[in-house]
Amino acid sequence: MDGNGRWAKKRSLPRAFGHKQGVKTIKNIVRAASSLGIKVLTLYAFSTENWKRPQSEIKILFSLLRQFIKKELKDLSSLGVKLRILGDLSKFPETVRIEVENARKTTSQNTGLELNIALNYGARQELIHAFKEMSKHGIKKPTEEIVSSFLYTAGQSDPDLLIRTSGEFRISNFLLWQIAYSEIYVTGKLWPDFTQRDLEIAISEFQKRERRFGGL
Ligand code: FPP
Repeated sequence: MDGNGRWAKKRSLPRAFGHKQGVKTIKNIVRAASSLGIKVLTLYAFSTENWKRPQSEIKILFSLLRQFIKKELKDLSSLGVKLRILGDLSKFPETVRIEVENARKTTSQNTGLELNIALNYGARQELIHAFKEMSKHGIKKPTEEIVSSFLYTAGQSDPDLLIRTSGEFRISNFLLWQIAYSEIYVTGKLWPDFTQRDLEIAISEFQKRERRFGGL
């Protein structure tokens, strides 16, 4: 969800306005994904590297996350959305953790769109976490299936499509294991400007790709 800061800068507004607008896009895209029948949508909301941002911006992001959950939980749940958190929440303020955990529990029996929100997430950290857990479980001969089952995304299929907004051609420590064969779509649109139509364009672009998974 790249480009919130640039969206605000273009309008000579503080970065917080870009993040607020970014949350509006989140609401629209979650609804769009649900109505399009997408099974899993993962939003990269806070990376392990985002702690380097000023404390004031981090506070705003936490507050927007709490507001989003408070305001949207009922509606999302009625759409059948099931929330999962990818990442280590232990460093987050207790108020945020309680809110997030409550939303997770409330939606745990839902069978619609699985909405993954990556929070304090980094793919390298996820892999180290998985290796430690495997070692605790005495696993000496890991297979691809076993490693996958120890990731935060356990039980979900690997992503078909990775969308990166704001024209950046980087992976930024996102789902490194899971995206081994994902199709990558980069759009110049900044996240706050990204619409349902843009999502549909990305999907139709994806549908034109020939996926060989290393075969012929
Ligand atoms: C990317 O824009 C945006 C983020 C790193 C934060 C997104 C998270 C939120 C808006 C918090 C609320 C989350 C949810 C799931 C409701 P950027 O700041 O990297 O923009 P820039 O690259 O233009 O500076």
